[in-house]
Amino acid sequence: MKTAVYPGSFDPITNGHVDIITRGLKIFDKIIVLIAHNPEKKSLFPVEERMEMIREVIKEHEKDHQRVKVDYAPGLLVDYVRNSGANVILKGLRAVSDFEYEFQMTLINRRLNRDIETVFLMTGFRWFFISSSIVKEAASLGGSVKGMVPDIVYQRLQQKYGFSAS
Ligand code: PNS
Repeated sequence: MKTAVYPGSFDPITNGHVDIITRGLKIFDKIIVLIAHNPEKKSLFPVEERMEMIREVIKEHEKDHQRVKVDYAPGLLVDYVRNSGANVILKGLRAVSDFEYEFQMTLINRRLNRDIETVFLMTGFRWFFISSSIVKEAASLGGSVKGMVPDIVYQRLQQKYGFSAS
């Protein structure tokens, strides 16, 4: 049984993330969507709410949702991966701009644990420009983010920022 850990801030989960989970399920038997701590980022949604949104989205979008687990880990990613019995980190790549950061992360994780490999999947073309950060920026300035995030996330952002539906 091949398990991959798909880590991120998921603050909040976007359609780009869902796309990677869907693609990942074609390759792996099980995916653990892991909310991990990114010290560079201040979060909008508390961890519990992010987990709840991910669970709902997966249940709605994935017919194989029983093969997806959602978890949180405050520490080192490689320690979580080892303790979970997996040895693969799954990451999504959009444009070339992601590359430098992901390259660095992959190499530090490899240095920290040589038994763990990182696998990259390319997001669908229509999600190339989508990130949680850009979605939050647009929503906070009153822009509708319909079609960029799952419905439940759209509703939560709308409650927070009060932009009009379109
Ligand atoms: O969605 P993000 O914010 O780009 O995800 C980054 C994340 C959370 C995957 C990354 O910050 C991470 O792996 N955090 C856990 C701590 C860790 O192991 N860092 C890398 C080695 S220093």
